[in-house]
Amino acid sequence: MQPMNEILPVTDAVTDTPVKATPALPDAQTVTEVTHWTDKLFSFRCTRPASLRFRSGEFVMIGLMNDPDPKTGKVKPLLRAYSIASPSWDEEMEFYSIKVENGPLTSRLQHIKVGDEIILRPKPVGTLVHDALIPGKRIWFFATGTGFAPFASLLREPQTYEDYEEVIITHTCRTAGELTYGRELIESLKDDELLNEVIGEGFWKKIKYYPTTTREESPKMGRITDLINSGEAYKDLDVTPLCPDNDRAMICGNMAFNLELKAMLEEAGLEEGANSKPAQYVVEKAFLD
Ligand code: A2P
Repeated sequence: MQPMNEILPVTDAVTDTPVKATPALPDAQTVTEVTHWTDKLFSFRCTRPASLRFRSGEFVMIGLMNDPDPKTGKVKPLLRAYSIASPSWDEEMEFYSIKVENGPLTSRLQHIKVGDEIILRPKPVGTLVHDALIPGKRIWFFATGTGFAPFASLLREPQTYEDYEEVIITHTCRTAGELTYGRELIESLKDDELLNEVIGEGFWKKIKYYPTTTREESPKMGRITDLINSGEAYKDLDVTPLCPDNDRAMICGNMAFNLELKAMLEEAGLEEGANSKPAQYVVEKAFLD
């Protein structure tokens, strides 16, 4: 891939002599690590803009420059909303992405390599934040597919363990391979120096992880929605059913999943919250190409 600062030669208007090309990409960040998890999923890390502050669980617009327009020679950025998968304290940024063969962005983004540049607009927003929830005893993170990304951030966020006695993360994917990123991340928490120091040794015992698959054999099969409705998930996790007094929840997955789970939480008596009006659960869609 062509380094982004080589796409547009920038000239000084007065002298017409070439100047450094960086102004063409004011929001460029450098890729520091790329991991391919399956033929359809990858994650990558990049440098963090020095001025960027965000809350764990938020998203930003990221992308690449389009090729120059053949007629005008102008280049425009191609941006998509991506949940930040790294926690707010991390020196770098992490993102978790699907690879869509004909997707305008991910068909190219999947080929990024260490040293390449991406564009990152430093304007974080989102509803999957602790500020949008009122205090509770347990927090449920419900994810499908790449909807795990904001929870990769929140699971590494000290406030998650300060605010709750129990942290339940459910992740439903089609195949077992799609669970790997999440599983490895959760396993790595045991050795997370910052969390062990800030929250205390053994903080990870607060986490209950419930991975399920729907189209490939795995130890637990089925949609989380069905497993909750049948009571099987409660039995497996050894927890009491969802209730508005104890439970807070965040939902991030495909649209049908988000809507179904939202209806289930409403049915259980939980109210939807927002930054401006914190309540008992929040929902966001996964940002697919
Ligand atoms: P299923 O295979 O039964 O459709 P996708 O890859 O299409 O985004 O789906 C990710 C996961 O979310 C799949 O395991 C899929 O199950 C599951 N899923 C899709 N729709 C729903 C829903 N309405 N409720 C619960 N899980 C769902």
